Amino acid sequence: MTTTNWIKLEIPSDTRNVAFARTAVALFASQLDWTLDELEDIKVAVSEAVSNSVIHGYALQEGNVFMEVSYHGPELRIMVEDFGKGIEDLEAAQEVGFTSIPEERMGLGFTFMHEYMDEVMVSSELGKGTKVTMIKRVKEQES
Ligand SMILES: Nc1ncnc2c1ncn2[C@@H]1O[C@H](COP(=O)(O)OP(=O)(O)O)[C@@H](O)[C@H]1O
Ligand SMILES: [Mg+2]
Repeated sequence: MTTTNWIKLEIPSDTRNVAFARTAVALFASQLDWTLDELEDIKVAVSEAVSNSVIHGYALQEGNVFMEVSYHGPELRIMVEDFGKGIEDLEAAQEVGFTSIPEERMGLGFTFMHEYMDEVMVSSELGKGTKVTMIKRVKEQES
């Protein structure tokens, strides 16, 4: 059996599609040997990244969110990309509690991504879009 697999998803920017993306990625990720808690962590990280593209990237306007999810051996890689407004200051955006919509949001999305995934890489260009790549590895089982 191959130890490599991948999927690509493209969804219109719509908050209703966040739950779809989260569940679809979790179902794909289930091909690897996670604990239930780890699978929940993956779902939260995906929700946060996709909702950021919808709410911030496209500011609830039209646009598509692209996802590529793959694994190679024990390493799961999740990429979420939008071609929305982009992030001006990547470091500030990832600080705990930073949000550009303080009336509505808590500013913890990136914090959860960093907490629940092993690696989080963000690249962004103002006016062009944002790409979040997250990696999580299956832990060695003790037996
Ligand atoms: N895809 C994105 N496009 C544009 N801005 C983003 C994107 N993702 C995050 N941001 C910016 O980073 C900030 C922090 O994101 P996050 O930690 O998820 O907090 P929150 O979503 O609660 O504001 C957002 O308020 C927004 O300004
Ligand atoms: Mg967020």
